[in-house]
Amino acid sequence: MKAVLCKQPGPPSSLVVENIASPQPGPGQLVVTMQAAGVNFPDVLIIQGKYQHKPEMPFSPGAEASGIVKAVGPGVTGFSVGDAVAAVMTYGAFAEEIVVDAARAIKLPARFDMKVAACFGLTYGTSYHALKDRARIRPGETMLVLGAAGGVGLAAVELGALMGARVIAAASSEEKLATCRRFGAAHTINYAEEDLREALRKIVGNDGVDVVYDPVGDKYAEPAVRSLAWGGRFLVVGFAAGEIPKIPLNLLLLKGASIVGVFWGNFSQREAAANANNNATLVRWIASGHLKPLISATYRLDQVPAALTDMSNRKVQGKVVVVP
Ligand SMILES: NC(=O)c1ccc[n+]([C@@H]2O[C@H](COP(=O)([O-])OP(=O)(O)OC[C@H]3O[C@@H](n4cnc5c(N)ncnc54)[C@H](OP(=O)(O)O)[C@@H]3O)[C@@H](O)[C@H]2O)c1
Repeated sequence: MKAVLCKQPGPPSSLVVENIASPQPGPGQLVVTMQAAGVNFPDVLIIQGKYQHKPEMPFSPGAEASGIVKAVGPGVTGFSVGDAVAAVMTYGAFAEEIVVDAARAIKLPARFDMKVAACFGLTYGTSYHALKDRARIRPGETMLVLGAAGGVGLAAVELGALMGARVIAAASSEEKLATCRRFGAAHTINYAEEDLREALRKIVGNDGVDVVYDPVGDKYAEPAVRSLAWGGRFLVVGFAAGEIPKIPLNLLLLKGASIVGVFWGNFSQREAAANANNNATLVRWIASGHLKPLISATYRLDQVPAALTDMSNRKVQGKVVVVP
């Protein structure tokens, strides 16, 4: 079977596609014939040795996928050969056959779109956990999403609107902001051209925003913290722009506000039952059409370097997927 391999730390162009032996499932594992794999920003980091997990080389990147169960390992219950599943992993998804921990697999209802299935586990899983479990967002609250047209950002926009929040989307181009409006943003800010605090003040006055969702970090984090409302929550999701911001703590004291960490990967393992409940809600919302994740491009396995380069260059909107 064909697999994308990372043989040494490096940029996307250093990845290769090779024929390797089909994997066998170990205890508690499934082997899944991959139908689609979602691309995520951590894939760009992990191949360069810049992610918190540093796999042994060679390895296949790719952290979420969908497909059909090909083999079931010892001790696995609840899954059979032929089941359609979605799964999240730390790496390993960019290959024709993938090994999945059964505990991290989701059985899909009939006729579920397999490209969408490859994209919601990590992306929508992160944003739903952030808004529901970490921010405890309430209907009627205002929420600012930074990097709002990206993978987790657009999921936060769509989920925030569905959960009754008034969503303000901030991104770097008019094209991206138009996408955010289609996915439920009530207001938009082009933070490449406008001053973020000034633009927010025009929308919410001096009241501030109740929740900030930040997957970008760098220079927008502090103005966003300064724009929090009384009792506001700032969700630390990621640092796609590279720089980890340092925030003066007096800003939080003055607002009775909180900075709240979000680490969906650890949550999904440490609080597996709560994560399974969240997944069930997301599957229901997607199956009923309440959520319609945007898949803006599809790449083949040999085009994974291009997919990861586009992601590093901020060219991606919503999700892009890899199909074998
Ligand atoms: N905490 C968690 O559990 C968790 C889970 C999943 C992902 N994450 C993190 O969330 C972040 C976003 O992931 P994603 O998969 O949604 O990525 P993505 O689709 O590439 O979105 C990231 C967004 O960040 C903005 N950005 C600003 N400066 C950038 C730069 N120098 N390079 C790339 N993007 C830049 C871009 O929007 P503009 O062009 O509009 O600025 C882009 O749309 C990553 O840091 C990832 O590690 C965290």
